[in-house]
Amino acid sequence: MPESITITDNRSGTSIEIPIENGGIDAAEWRRFLPGVWFCDPGLATTAATTSSITELDGDNGVLRYRGYPIEQLAEQSSFLEVAYLLVHGELPTRAQHDEWVYEITHHTFVHDNFRKRIYDAFHYDAHPMGLLTSGVAALSTFYPEAKEIENPKIRMEQIVRLIAKMPTLAAAAYRHSQGQPYVFPDNLLGYPENFLNMMYRMGGEYEIHPVLGKAMEILLILHADHEQNCSTTAARVVGSSHADPYTSVAAACAALYGPRHGGANEAVINMLDEIGDYSDVDSFMKTVKSGENRLMGFGHRVYKNYDPRAKIIKKSAYDVFEVTGKNPRLDLALKIEEIATNDSYFIDRRLYPNVDFYSGLIYQSMGFPTEMFTVLFAIGRTPGWLAHWNEMMEQGSRIARPRQLYTGPEMRDFVPLSER
Ligand code: CMC
Repeated sequence: MPESITITDNRSGTSIEIPIENGGIDAAEWRRFLPGVWFCDPGLATTAATTSSITELDGDNGVLRYRGYPIEQLAEQSSFLEVAYLLVHGELPTRAQHDEWVYEITHHTFVHDNFRKRIYDAFHYDAHPMGLLTSGVAALSTFYPEAKEIENPKIRMEQIVRLIAKMPTLAAAAYRHSQGQPYVFPDNLLGYPENFLNMMYRMGGEYEIHPVLGKAMEILLILHADHEQNCSTTAARVVGSSHADPYTSVAAACAALYGPRHGGANEAVINMLDEIGDYSDVDSFMKTVKSGENRLMGFGHRVYKNYDPRAKIIKKSAYDVFEVTGKNPRLDLALKIEEIATNDSYFIDRRLYPNVDFYSGLIYQSMGFPTEMFTVLFAIGRTPGWLAHWNEMMEQGSRIARPRQLYTGPEMRDFVPLSER
């Protein structure tokens, strides 16, 4: 059986055979054969925007691999910075490469004092931290004007290190601002997740991090580190394709992540559980989902048509965290929702399963994070993924993102002056 498809233009009777490579067909062949006939693909649901060797996602079988390594193995055995190296560089680091990478990231965690004094302090006291983070990342570009040299691989790598290093600093500062608490400087003696937790919560003396909570934070960061061409990565690539600097591209990714259909879903799950309120009200809420009145936040995925493998790992991690913090009272509601959904034809037929956001919010909340910080945590984890894709695009050499449209507006008509309308 030939690995190709044949397209026939019924207007002219001509045909073209296009080979199927890596599961796709080359749209340039289509374009040459049918100039002026465009794919109408809202949400880009049928479009492969690029080839990529970073993350493999098999939605039917619930498989997620970074550079070939299963997410389950990475979550259990690796560290976030090691995974970040893997995503960015393509291979697991040797001991020497690992130590140098960790050293570099640990020693680029500070941000210019103007962030504290002028930029963050200019925001209203109750500003959403994602607003601060998105603006803060965009502002970073003005501190590193050399980042514009996007063709230079060495300069690109310097910005990648800076961004991974500074995200927790900006994120924790956004939280402290919202609490009216003084900012805590990074501590170079701490590991990546521990340093972040320290900047979030330290008050006065030593801040003790329970190892189970530190481990849970590490796992959550690893699980969020990449997810191929998702909405925010696509936003970073679209902006990066115009050759904007990486800070601006990552700020665009943060903005895309903010929405409740993407990284904002973890916050929306908790709000939804609070709205349901009582265990006895779950059934009636589920009816409103099925009637289309409500959407079940933390359920469904464009690619996963099976249980999201990240949700499985997070669910297990949630129980470990609750051993330390006590059970999150919303857990019973979440479990009941999952049980109803996995046995109800509405969800089964549409292949809607819990995604990464369904249980992550419960853990974050039990660790003391306010709901507004949940998407910020997602952003810290996803930063290496955004940057790996941006860097891959720069290495591949890309065209500017510029889709077409199918125009459905009025035909040409003459302007009517205001006085005659
Ligand atoms: N609750 C109820 N019905 C749903 C849901 C849901 N969460 N998700 C999809 N559906 C229904 C939808 O109404 C549609 O039904 P019908 O065929 O009768 O019109 C069908 O399932 C297909 O949905 P869709 O909107 O075409 O699916 P999509 O691939 O465009 O959207 C999604 C994917 C993730 C945006 C969507 O499932 C959703 O809004 N989920 C809730 C938000 C959420 O949890 N987002 C986090 C995603 S995972 C982390 C990340 O990547 O950010």
